[in-house]
Formats: sequence, structure tokens, C-alpha cells
Amino acid sequence: MYQTINLCKTYADTGQTVLNQVNLQIPQGSLFGLLGPNGAGKTTLLSILVGLTPKTSGEVLVDGIELEKCLKEVRDTTGVVPQDLAFYPMLSAQDNLNFFADTLGLKGAKRKQNLEFAITATSLNNHLQKKAQNFSGGLKRRLNLAIGLLNQPSVLFLDEPTVGIDPQTRQFILKSIKALNHQGVTVIYTSHYMDEVQKLCNHVAIIDRGVILIQDEIDRLLHHQGKNELRIAFCKPEAEKIAQQLLSQHSTQIENAYRLTIETGEPLALLQIISDKLPDPTSAIEQISYGHHSLEALFLSLTGSKTRDDDAQ
Ligand SMILES: Nc1ncnc2c1ncn2[C@@H]1O[C@H](COP(=O)(O)OP(=O)(O)OP(=O)(O)O)[C@@H](O)[C@H]1O
Ligand SMILES: [Mg+2]
Repeated sequence: MYQTINLCKTYADTGQTVLNQVNLQIPQGSLFGLLGPNGAGKTTLLSILVGLTPKTSGEVLVDGIELEKCLKEVRDTTGVVPQDLAFYPMLSAQDNLNFFADTLGLKGAKRKQNLEFAITATSLNNHLQKKAQNFSGGLKRRLNLAIGLLNQPSVLFLDEPTVGIDPQTRQFILKSIKALNHQGVTVIYTSHYMDEVQKLCNHVAIIDRGVILIQDEIDRLLHHQGKNELRIAFCKPEAEKIAQQLLSQHSTQIENAYRLTIETGEPLALLQIISDKLPDPTSAIEQISYGHHSLEALFLSLTGSKTRDDDAQ
């Protein structure tokens, strides 16, 4: 289990504090999503947890031991898949894998086994002889992942592993990550894709401007933080009219002229009321859904909708 206690990071060159009193707990065996807007501090936090970036103050504990005291063991058992692609474009996939196996000092049967493991987990078998620079975006991400798996890690850090790829490769990578987690690998995963994190992870922390806003099991988080919401998509621009009529009894939110979200604990009764207000309810409603907040709604309610690039303006 990874734990940080009052972890802070100030980059010396800029004087900017990018992690501020971060207290994080990552349970062993979890599939842990770290969500945050651009510049929130996700990559910095990951880099500190894997011992690549020094912290400024606070503690990082791995199974109760200070990271500095067990850095070698942690490096041996940890895989890191960086946000930016990190391999040699001029080399083939096989040569890249061989090179990184060398840097890990892998030899003999263990080397063979680990290479096989990384190649199989990412299904790269048929692409090994191609130059990495000629790979599609999806294959590049798969090679990046394979390199992170070369030491058969028990803990895998993934920094936005599905950026810039098509839905098929995304599904493939997510399936691979889930399979690894089922095999017992603890996964720490940063992403901007809320639906992805909601589907994939069982724990989540949301970080913004270097501060952890919330962390918990996703199901519990959505249950406690979420409100019961009825979402209706109309075939005609009815949202405003219906919202006006419900305003006195319900908290309503108009997404656009066709989509309305209403907070309620009694969706069926409310649907009946809405149907009664529509001249032809069977052809007026396109879609109905009911449930807790999505992770995205929770994220936006915690972090706001302003882009971080506009912070200083
Ligand atoms: N080496 C560095 N030196 C100085 N400042 C840095 C360095 N690396 C990151 N920063 C700054 O620290 C802040 C957090 O950056 P970080 O890359 O950790 O955020 P992030 O959450 O990973 O963002 P993104 O979603 O864009 O990848 C940003 O303001 C960034 O400009
Ligand atoms: Mg980042």
C-alpha cells in the first residue's frame, strides 16, 4: 500500500507549489484512478511515488516504509508508463524492448519470460519487427505499455495511457489493464476521461491545483456525493417549459433545449407528472435515465468548469 502524508512539492526553478499537503492512500490490489484538470499535479505526484522526482516535504510510505529506504525494491517491482511516449522511434519494437530489458538488467530465462509477458499482455507479437516510428498512435501506446511491463511489476503506474488513440485500442488497453489488476497488480492510473475511470477503477482521488479534493471507493463516492437524478431527453425543445412548471417543487437543470435533469427520490411519480404535462408523451420523450451523478458531474462540481490555462486571466 502507498501512502503519502502531508506531501508537498515546490519546483525550485519556478517557486511554484504544485502539491500541497497531499494525503493519499492507495490500497494494495486496487485499480486507483487519479483524476485532475491540466496542471493539477498528477504527473508530479506519480513521479514522486516512483522515486523519479524528489519531494519537498512530507512523507511517502510504501507498506509503511519510507520510500527513500526501499527505493531499490520499489523500482524492481514497479512499472511506469509515462504520459509522453518514451522509446526510440528509429528502433523496431523488438529492439526497443530488448534495449529496455538491458537497462533493467534482465538476463536468461527471466528475461525471456518477462519479454513474453510484456508482449503477450499488449498483443505486440505481430508488430515486433516494425520500426516504432511507423506505428499507429494505438500501437505506440501499446509499446509504451509493454515497456512499463518489462519487469513484471506488482505495482503499475500509468500516466494517461489512452490519450490520442481510437476506441478499439482504448478498449484493448483498458481490458489489458483490468486483466493485470485481476492478476493482482495494483494499478495507479491518471486520466482525463471520467467515463473511463468510472468503468475501470474501483478507487479514485480527484486532485486540483495540488490539493486532493476527495478520495474514496468510486461506488461509495458516487453514492454519498451523488444526488438521485432523473435525466430526460425530449424529441422537441420542451426542457425549458417543463423545468418552469416543476420549478417550485424540484431542483432542475437545463442542459440544452432538449435535455433536462431533475433531482428526485421518486422518479416514477415525477415521470407521471411530466407525462401529464406533455400533449403527446409517448412521442415527446426520446430517452430517460435515472441514477447517481456521473463521475464527470462530480468532478465538475468539485473543480468548476473554468479551464486551468485561463487561471491567471
Ligand atoms: N519540471 C518542472 N519544473 C517546473 N514546473 C513544473 C515541472 N513539471 C511540472 N511543472 C508544473 O507543475 C504543475 C503540475 O504539473 P503536472 O505535470 O504535474 O500536472 P498534470 O496534472 O500531470 O497535468 P496534465 O493533465 O496536463 O498532464 C504545472 O503547473 C506544471 O507547469
Ligand atoms: Mg500529466
